[in-house]
Formats: sequence, structure tokens, C-alpha cells
Amino acid sequence: MTLIGIIGGSGLDNPDILHDARDVEVSNSYGVPSAPLRHGTMAGRDVVLLARHGREHTIPPTHVNYRANIKALKDAGCGCIIATTACGSLRQEIDRGHLIILDQFIDFTRLRHVSFYETFAPHDPRHTGMADPFDAALRRHLIDACERLGIAHHKTGTVVTIEGSRFSTRAESNMFRMWGADVINMSIAPECILANEAGIPYASVAMSTDYDCWKTDEAPVSWDDIIEVFRSNVEMVTSLLTETIANLD
Ligand code: ADE
Repeated sequence: MTLIGIIGGSGLDNPDILHDARDVEVSNSYGVPSAPLRHGTMAGRDVVLLARHGREHTIPPTHVNYRANIKALKDAGCGCIIATTACGSLRQEIDRGHLIILDQFIDFTRLRHVSFYETFAPHDPRHTGMADPFDAALRRHLIDACERLGIAHHKTGTVVTIEGSRFSTRAESNMFRMWGADVINMSIAPECILANEAGIPYASVAMSTDYDCWKTDEAPVSWDDIIEVFRSNVEMVTSLLTETIANLD
């Protein structure tokens, strides 16, 4: 049976959700991943968990070694990756605590390694298709699990990933809304891109924690708001992961 990779984002940095957990320190040609790989089981399935920002949340989004992370999960033998992320809502109807099963991204990052390919082999250029970057079957499993558990969710959503670590200006937030983005975060690109390049089916469940800063009747987002909302809903995410993994083919 295939190994299932989980990348834990903000608010899920060091969850105690695996049975028989053991840590494995790894490194690869791209460097050292954000944290040791935590191997264990969930719902009777073999799982490996990686904290995207480190277990103590010491790695800002720009400085996450996304290539080392995805390569480490590939080398471990992961047949799929489910990633979690906090996100800001750019739509009135996406309320705090709602989950979004992302289906598209807009990459607004500028300072990251966005590909494994730094050179091509002679006459063998690699340009990876990215039309539908989130795996349809994994997304279906996440949506079905949300429905079985009665979790408030959105079946689709376009995330815009910004460089960070700062939040957006109001002008940027309004621009992203005009572009068609539904939610905003700082990490899905290039993680999703690299998983596609590595040939690993990847899906992400995003939790809306704030309304960024486009709403004029609310205070702009702060980190404290994000963490408070994520932590008070974290069990929803972990039960979704368990339910999804229990039903993976
Ligand atoms: N993560 C959670 N909320 C966010 C926001 N408003 N902007 C960027 N990343 C976020």
C-alpha cells in the first residue's frame, strides 16, 4: 500500500495525530527539509507527516525549502500528498472556519525556486503541464469526507499565493479579487508545482482564517487572528484527514 504524505501548514506544525510515530532525519540534493519526517499510521494507513514551517514554526514562507520537502517525500515513497494551509478569504461567502478544497492557484511569488529543473538534458526540455494542478481523485476524497462529516466547505477555490511574509495592501487584496482568486495564502506555490513535477498527486485543504484586508467593515488580518481561528478549528482538519485517509483507494 502506498505511503501517504501530509504537509502540515500553519496551525498544524506539530500535531500528535499519528500512531506509532517515529522521526526520521533526512536530507537530499536540495538540502534538508523543514523538519524530520514523522512516520506513523493514521486510520491504519502508513503516513508520513512534514511540518512545512518547521515544528516550531521558525521558517518563513519565502525560506521554506520546498524542493527539499517534496524530494524528501518522494524519496520516502509517498504516492500522494495532502497539504493543509491557512488562508485568507477574498469572498464574502467563504467564512472563517470554512474549508476550501483548492482546485486552482495563481502564483504571485517572486523569490522562490519554482522548479526542480535548473538544466535540461540535451534535447529533453521539461515543461510540466499545470492546467489542473490539484489531483482530482484526492480532491473528490476530501470533498466526500467533508460531506460525510458535515464540515462547512467549498468544493473549489482559486488560491493566490503571495511572497509574504507581509500581508497584502488593500490595493493588492482588491486586485486579487478582480483576478478571480477566492482565497490567499503564502505557501501553495511552489509546493504544488514541485509535487506535479515530481509526479506525486497533490491536493490541499485550506482553512479560511480571516478576510485579508479588502473588507472595509473589518480590521485587517493579523497573525494572531489566523492562529486563533485555525487552532479553534484544528480538530475539524485532523478529523477530515483521518476520514479521507481511511477511504483512500
Ligand atoms: N494565510 C492566512 N491568511 C492569510 C492572508 N490574509 N494573506 C496571506 N496568507 C494568509
